Formats: sequence, structure tokens, C-alpha cells
Amino acid sequence: MRNIVSEIKDMSVWRILAAVCASVTFVPFSIFTAYDAMQRRRLKHRLRDKVVLITGASSGLGEALAHAFYQAGCRVILAARREDELQRVKNALLTTHNTKVTHPPVVLPLDLSDLNALPGKIAKVLEIVDRIDILINNGGISYRGNVLTTSVDVDIKLMLVNYFGQVALTKAVLPSMIEKQNGHIVAISSVQGKIAIPYRSAYAASKHALQAFCDTLRSEVASHNINVTVVSPGYIRTKLSLNALTGSGQAYGVMDATTESGSPAEKVAEDILHAVAAEKKELITCPFLPRIAILIRTLYPDLYFWLMKKRAKPH
Ligand SMILES: NC(=O)c1ccc[n+]([C@@H]2O[C@H](COP(=O)([O-])OP(=O)(O)OC[C@H]3O[C@@H](n4cnc5c(N)ncnc54)[C@H](OP(=O)(O)O)[C@@H]3O)[C@@H](O)[C@H]2O)c1
Repeated sequence: MRNIVSEIKDMSVWRILAAVCASVTFVPFSIFTAYDAMQRRRLKHRLRDKVVLITGASSGLGEALAHAFYQAGCRVILAARREDELQRVKNALLTTHNTKVTHPPVVLPLDLSDLNALPGKIAKVLEIVDRIDILINNGGISYRGNVLTTSVDVDIKLMLVNYFGQVALTKAVLPSMIEKQNGHIVAISSVQGKIAIPYRSAYAASKHALQAFCDTLRSEVASHNINVTVVSPGYIRTKLSLNALTGSGQAYGVMDATTESGSPAEKVAEDILHAVAAEKKELITCPFLPRIAILIRTLYPDLYFWLMKKRAKPH
């Protein structure tokens, strides 16, 4: 009998302990989650009626960004090469969202590698909408290959689309933002804009260049009330690896396991929307391991280079 009583006592102690632990962790977590949701709703409100030009809006992350910003009440301008795909995205926006938005999306066919044509494209947009509040430089291509056998034309193509295209578009938009003393430039870089991994030289180089350009730009345009946000995502589940170029310039055409198991584009787009609304200067959105890799590259470069040497070894 005494045993049973002491067992019951023991159980109640455990129950009380469990209840205390649960409330210590759960209550602050719930308060934080509720506060965060409230903040996000409040911030999202700030974006209403903004004119947002999104490159690479015909698929993947750009398409998800178009949905996120359109739903937030923005007037979205959808840019990429494939006009039929942009039209598909436009129709999806008009039919999917039950919003009171009165800004029909605008389709803007453009090729980021056609640098000289970009100022004309922006002039055309400004005739239609009178201002661009937010430019999201998202369009891009990836690459798979080794330095030795990759044609320099492929290196140039990657830099042209992922770097010079973004630079030219930014320069075309900036004067109108400076005139209005207001604007926001967003660059979709990558974790590979912070660290370089084997067999991605051209891609990592283009994203490192984009990061450096934006860091300089941020300091120069701050006095004009223009924000610059650099986004460095880890793997996202899109067609990026399918569309990647190989060393000979052919399409890679393979859905990599890393891309397949990446974050949903909608989730990344939602995070980007809130970073833009909160006027954050940087958003690194990736799992724990790439974050650690960025830290190791900065603090212990020799260790990072050793790890990459191991990774580069043929299997
Ligand atoms: N997926 C990932 O794991 C990942 C990770 C980190 C960063 N990112 C970055 O996210 C951005 C979007 O890529 P994604 O993952 O959504 O890949 P995606 O599905 O292949 O989309 C790429 C977009 O870029 C456009 N594009 C490509 N070349 C272009 C050109 N010459 N001119 C204009 N537009 C061009 C494509 O449209 P058209 O073919 O119609 O022109 C397409 O809309 C890229 O900058 C990429 O580097 C992706």
C-alpha cells in the first residue's frame, strides 16, 4: 500500500514537472508566434499599392514572388523571356487570389543578357505605371561543370544573366527612384554568393559579384531613401538545376536531389516579402549546415578549403 502511495506521489511530481516545463517553453513560444504573425500582417500592409517589377517571374521563385506581392496588394510587373509563361502567371494571379486588388499585372518580355535593350524596357514600364517602387532582381541561371573544361562563353553567359543583367536593370531603374527619393532594390543572390563550392565556379562567381555590387550600392543610395536587400537562399524546389548550363553550354536537364528536397518556393517568397516590408538589408534563408559553412569560411578559411577539397574529390 505504501509503495502504491509513493508511486502515485512520484507520478504527480513528474506530472507537475512536465506541466511546468511545458508552460515554460510553450507559453513564450505561443506569445512569440502570435506576435510574429501580427508583425507580419502589419508589415505586409505597408506594401499595398507598391509597384513591383520582378524578373524571372515566369517560373520558380519569381512566380512565387509574383503571387506573394500581388496578394499583398501590389501592382506586379512580370518580366522574363518567355511571354507565354508570363501570360500564364498573370492569368493565375487574376484567377487564384480573392483580393480586392485593382492593379492588373503587367507582362514585360525581356532578356537580361540583352543589356542595351534594358533601359528601353524600363522607359516603357515607366510610361505605363509612372514609377517602380521595388525592383526584384530574381531572374537567373545556374551551372554545373569543372573549371578546366568549361568554355569561357559559359562563364560570360552566367555573368551576363546573373550579374550584368541585374546591374544594367538596376541602373535603368535608379534615376526614377532617385527622382522620387524613394525605392527598394532587391537582389536574389544565393548561399553561393557567400561561399563557393566545387563544380559551380561560374554561378558562385556571378552571385559573389552581385553581393559586392549591392553592398556598395546600398551605401551610395541610402541618402536618397533607397533600400537594398540581398537575399541568400539555400536550395529551393524549382527548375533551376534542370535549366542549368553545363561546361559546353548545353542544358543540364537533371533535377538534382538537393534542389528536389529544397524549401518550397512559396515559403521562401513569403520570407522575402517580409524582409522587404521590414526593409532588412540581408536575408539568409537556409538550413543550419550552410549557415555553419558561411561561418567556417569567414573564421577558419583553411578548414573550409580542406572540406571543399574533400567534397571535390571524384567519387
Ligand atoms: N532554386 C534554388 O535552389 C536557388 C537557390 C538560391 C538562389 N536561387 C536563385 O533564385 C533565382 C530564381 O531561380 P529559380 O530557382 O526560380 O529557377 P528557375 O525556375 O529556373 O527560374 C529562373 C527564372 O529566370 C528567368 N531567366 C533565365 N534566364 C533569363 C534571361 N536571360 N533573361 C530573363 N530572364 C531569365 C527564367 O525565365 P525565362 O526562361 O522565361 O526567361 C525563369 O523565370 C535565381 O537567381 C537563382 O540563382 C535559386
